[in-house]
Amino acid sequence: MQENEYGYFDDANREFVITTPYTPTPWINYLGNDGFYALMSNTAGGYCFYRDPKFRRLTRYRYNNIPADSGGRYFYFNVDGETWAAGGRPVDTKLDKYECRHGMGYSKFNVEKNGIESTLTSFVPLKTTGEVHRLQITNNNDVAKTVDSFSFIEWCLWNAEDDGANFQRNLSTGEVEVEKNTIFHKTEFRERRNHYAFYSCNRDIDGFDTDRQDFIGTYNSFANPKVVADAQSTNKIAHGWSPIASHHNKLELAPGETVSLIYVLGYVEVEPEDKWESKAVINKKPTWAFQEQFDTDEKFENELAKLEAYWTGLLENIVVDTPSDSLNRSLNIWNQYQNMTTFNLSRSASFYESGIGRGMGFRDSNQDTIGFTHMVPGEVRQRILDLSAIQMSDGSAYHQYQPLTKKGNANVGGNFNDDPMWLVLSTANYIKETGDTSILDQELAFEDTPDVKNIHFDHLTASFNHVINNLGPHGLPLIGRADWNDCLNLNCFSTEPNESYQTTQRGDSKVAESVMIAGQFVLYGNEYARICDLRGLTDEAARARAEVAKMVATVDQHGWDGEWFIRAYDSRGEKIGSNENEEGKIFIESQGFCLMAGIGYDDGRAIQALDSVNSMLLAEHGIVLNNPPFSEYNKFIGEITSYPQGYKENAGIFTHNNPWIVVAETMAGRGDQAFDYFSRFTPLFRPQDMAKHKTEPYCYSQMIAGKDAAIPGEAKNSWLTGAAAWSFYTATQYILGIMPDYSGLLIEPCIPTDWTTYNVKRNFRGASYDITINNPNGVSKGVVSIEVDGNAIEGNIIDFATFSGTHKVVVTMG
Ligand code: GLC
Ligand code: GLC
Repeated sequence: MQENEYGYFDDANREFVITTPYTPTPWINYLGNDGFYALMSNTAGGYCFYRDPKFRRLTRYRYNNIPADSGGRYFYFNVDGETWAAGGRPVDTKLDKYECRHGMGYSKFNVEKNGIESTLTSFVPLKTTGEVHRLQITNNNDVAKTVDSFSFIEWCLWNAEDDGANFQRNLSTGEVEVEKNTIFHKTEFRERRNHYAFYSCNRDIDGFDTDRQDFIGTYNSFANPKVVADAQSTNKIAHGWSPIASHHNKLELAPGETVSLIYVLGYVEVEPEDKWESKAVINKKPTWAFQEQFDTDEKFENELAKLEAYWTGLLENIVVDTPSDSLNRSLNIWNQYQNMTTFNLSRSASFYESGIGRGMGFRDSNQDTIGFTHMVPGEVRQRILDLSAIQMSDGSAYHQYQPLTKKGNANVGGNFNDDPMWLVLSTANYIKETGDTSILDQELAFEDTPDVKNIHFDHLTASFNHVINNLGPHGLPLIGRADWNDCLNLNCFSTEPNESYQTTQRGDSKVAESVMIAGQFVLYGNEYARICDLRGLTDEAARARAEVAKMVATVDQHGWDGEWFIRAYDSRGEKIGSNENEEGKIFIESQGFCLMAGIGYDDGRAIQALDSVNSMLLAEHGIVLNNPPFSEYNKFIGEITSYPQGYKENAGIFTHNNPWIVVAETMAGRGDQAFDYFSRFTPLFRPQDMAKHKTEPYCYSQMIAGKDAAIPGEAKNSWLTGAAAWSFYTATQYILGIMPDYSGLLIEPCIPTDWTTYNVKRNFRGASYDITINNPNGVSKGVVSIEVDGNAIEGNIIDFATFSGTHKVVVTMG
């Protein structure tokens, strides 16, 4: 079972088991489903927030902290003068046992020292605005023991950015109340806030603390709080400084005895007229009701069971059984789990994303939907419409919107010219999965023309037109500020260290063009034409196809370099990503998009481009973004040239775009090659590399240092990345070949030749399909027959209109 020195997968429980508190980086889990979210590291570090990690932060987090997960929900013990913590740290006492299990929406910590064993189980119950923690403590000694147990969390004064900066004010504003076993955080409640937070314990307490300095001591740290060492709370009320919440329980445990303590860390909103119980005393009624839901072991376990059932429901829409355990584990559990994390958090809060910066990205969020439409279609419909609503009538879009207001983010603006066409991808994918074409008729204004009646379909037309209305000298799409590659800033020319590459644009040369957007336009322009077909818009479909054909011709003429596709033309009309360049000769994105668009398969160029990728971009852990890397800053190319060689967009393995090449390999029919690439950048295939990889083995990281890096193979920026959605989409649809289409389920696998059989269970539009694919002749591609319930069907589309209920499908390849 032990897969590496840090832990192993427990598939039966859908858990990753971490066996040491000292992982190379904090290995985290996300708790929360319906608006309340928490980051939970393998030592119980991290923070939580309600909806917006910037404006509604409940617990404090310090940036650039050492280690990064310092601060969290700590449960300290003092037994016979020895101290340790239920999460394994921050006390560094050597434990007799430590195990952290990260599961679907919960984390469990089991530690033991000197015969005192604890199990901490933490989760955010469904539809609940708070974390719930159960701490079970058992005395495994044959003598009675006194256990002094202390909880601890530190409050954030709500606005996370202000909390880390505005000390002259904040050190005076903190306010708390204590009643019974509950500590209330009510900073700013007296003025403009209608919300407070609380931390409660379901057992009578023997003491409390509310001031950090009282609890920790002036020159102590999280590792050795004074109150824990003294085994004695101070029972003092904080006035300003740094408010915290800590409960003390003095537990007398007979041999073999277990006690259970349940803590709730909750967020409460009250109506303005209902804020106060009496002068300066907050209305605690909602808190008592909140706590009551979780105040017994039975209630706690019921809620946890509901969460498990929720995840089982989400995950059973696609279940695969292939010859690859790593692929099964990834697709059945962890990849889908990560996809839901990107649904909930986009790129907002991780140990690499501060939670005080960006909102929901237009580009990122549209792409993310391809990873979870099969799980939460209703929410995806709303997400797509929210994104569509920040589009302008000319088809351009705000690059981001803020989740609390759903308004376009004016600070960041627009002009990322790949943005519009991602809306076609998300919409097409949604309709194919659900059959719900009514989304197209949804009334929806453009951001700049709120009074004009439009429907969502008009937004797709605007996206399409935006590309053809913004072509450059070669007839290729103008790049604007950047395309998918945020760091290819061809109209920025920055020499000023304090300006942002992303938001700085010095005019528009109307010269810099992107071959990647050209490929994207061909791919999703064809999809747009198919949507026009669905609506019976014959003329519009024909117009779209004619424009797409024109673009293909333009790519043929100005986008092909001889052995691969050029990446771009800069503001002076010079090629980027060409054999003529010294550095950055070849880029992954234009290969990915031109090939996914189907360009070059009829005349050998597709294979040539794929072989160039293989010979020039392949590294041990995946495919690097470009090569050779840029060694000098070049203001005509932008931020990409600012990165050290082998990192990030400058020849790092940017995992998000690796699946594009995998898709292209499956289109070329090379199943062994496709699977080899997939297994390189998917960490679940390489648990043995984790000391080097550093980030969590159970999720994708945005980047793995490339072959030209000082230290190849190190990953950074785990969890919140488009790699999750794209990998899942690619593996299920292009490798396993179960592809939702407008009229049914299209079956078109492209697999390793040594797979003889595999099975996919797929719920699709109200029917369940149990699909077995047999490969008797060891091919990669080619379906010779399909039987549904023993009857052969014509072609390789299982027409959804004919089937409801449960069906057995047998596919034979050859
Ligand atoms: C990041 C951004 C994404 C961009 C990519 C490449 O992942 O979130 O929008 O496409 O970097 O620059
Ligand atoms: C995007 C890119 C990232 C870049 C950043 C610059 O998020 O993904 O690589 O550093 O923008 O702000």
